[in-house]
Amino acid sequence: MNNPVLACYGLAKSYLDGASKIEVLQHVDLEVNRSEMVAIVGSSGSGKSTLLHLLGGLDKPSHGRVILNGKNLQHLSEKEKCELRNHHLGFVYQFHHLLPEFSALENISMPLLIRGEEPEIIREKAAHLLEQIGLKNRMSHRLGQLSGGERQRVAIARALVADPLCVLADEPTGNLDPHNAERVLQLFFDLQKSLQTSVVMVTHDPIIAKRAQRIMRIEQGKLVEA
Ligand SMILES: Nc1ncnc2c1ncn2[C@@H]1O[C@H](COP(=O)(O)OP(=O)(O)O)[C@@H](O)[C@H]1O
Ligand SMILES: [Mg+2]
Repeated sequence: MNNPVLACYGLAKSYLDGASKIEVLQHVDLEVNRSEMVAIVGSSGSGKSTLLHLLGGLDKPSHGRVILNGKNLQHLSEKEKCELRNHHLGFVYQFHHLLPEFSALENISMPLLIRGEEPEIIREKAAHLLEQIGLKNRMSHRLGQLSGGERQRVAIARALVADPLCVLADEPTGNLDPHNAERVLQLFFDLQKSLQTSVVMVTHDPIIAKRAQRIMRIEQGKLVEA
């Protein structure tokens, strides 16, 4: 049997707003298979980021379960969850969330440092990725000295450096101009293919979504085939 890399079943999330309850997601089922890229679309405020946070174990669902590499996140301690996340997930955000005072190389190395990998292996892997993203000559630049597109390429390298099963990407090119967005996306897709990483990518752009194998839409709290 080919088990999904990441899945959720009967997932729901609601927030309390004063006395009223806002149901953001309801009965969401999703199975992400190995090497598959799934795009999640939906209008602003429909719950796309909320779904990614739940899938990544960064937030707790009101109902339902998230299964990462066969493990139910709700059954794990915070520490176990962090470990599982570090080993199997990568994250890319719209505003990169990198560390501005550190170099590109150090930023890319971070997931491997957290994992306690050997320094030489870390350096080798991070330098190799830096070369693949076309920033070899920016090795020691601090993040603050890089352009938006370059930073986003670093963010993608960081998400992939630890060879995760799945990358969760939230509007990864949302704040880039079309030319840089295209460059970053192409890089992301190429790396994803060669590493056979699964991806769940949130985007509000239907043209970007079309490049995924499968498109799902959040509509009134439900996840449906687009
Ligand atoms: N921490 C929170 N508390 C209350 N409401 C929230 C919280 N986070 C998100 N929401 C609400 O949930 C809905 C979905 O938000 P979000 O997942 O960020 O949408 P999207 O990413 O699709 O734009 C929005 O109506 C938002 O206001
Ligand atoms: Mg969002």
